[in-house]
Amino acid sequence: MIILEAQHLSHSYRIGGRDIRILDDVSLAVEAGEFLVIQGASGSGKSTLLSLLSGLDKPGSGRIRIDGRDITDLGEDDLAPIRNTAIGFVFQAYHLVPALTAIENVMFPAELRGDPAAAEKAAALVNRVGLADRRDNFPHQLSGGEKQRIAICRALINAPAVIFADEPTGNLDSASGQAILTLLREFQRERGATLVLVTHNPEIAATADRVLKLVDGRLRHELPHAA
Ligand SMILES: Nc1ncnc2c1ncn2[C@@H]1O[C@H](COP(=O)(O)OP(=O)(O)OP(=O)(O)O)[C@@H](O)[C@H]1O
Ligand SMILES: [Mg+2]
Repeated sequence: MIILEAQHLSHSYRIGGRDIRILDDVSLAVEAGEFLVIQGASGSGKSTLLSLLSGLDKPGSGRIRIDGRDITDLGEDDLAPIRNTAIGFVFQAYHLVPALTAIENVMFPAELRGDPAAAEKAAALVNRVGLADRRDNFPHQLSGGEKQRIAICRALINAPAVIFADEPTGNLDSASGQAILTLLREFQRERGATLVLVTHNPEIAATADRVLKLVDGRLRHELPHAA
């Protein structure tokens, strides 16, 4: 079953008074449960592609479907609940809410949709990532790796069908980066979710079902291989 589909996506940004085409007729179909890695040079458009696929931004042209639903023309009111439940997003820079504690950050998306088990689910996730004793810390009281583990819990609490992760280990040392990627993979496998991961890590790319590389605004197939 195709859970995520992009058809003929093109996207330009206006840079220095000129329209620069970042994505050029990109089409993509991702199976439910698939682990897809996206690679590409800095500035090639990986983050742009993820923000379009996840409905954070609108494409210049083309269409996007998630879980059978065409989200391309949806307004914010219709999109917000889809982003909250069908999609989980993990960013390089964590994006935790600074005024909320770790456990409150995790709980938030579940509370937003009125889940009566929000607190219970959040506690289970935070235990699972080994941060039970940090649950009442604020983000500024957590290390980078701890922040990212909390961000993963937050992305997973509503059991999304698709998890997007944009260089989630980019700010971490290699040991905590590896731990984060292992965690994401474990959760993805357990839940049968789809994982779309932007990473430069060749060991992780070697374990992907498929590796695509953005070059000159287009997606190329790469063979997954170890470094
Ligand atoms: N909001 C914006 N306005 C104008 N230009 C932008 C905007 N966002 C991104 N760009 C430009 O689009 C190009 C692609 O950016 P993007 O962030 O998608 O690249 P990336 O592949 O994620 O790079 P990196 O590996 O450095 O994260 C870059 O040249 C960038 O400068
Ligand atoms: Mg990026």
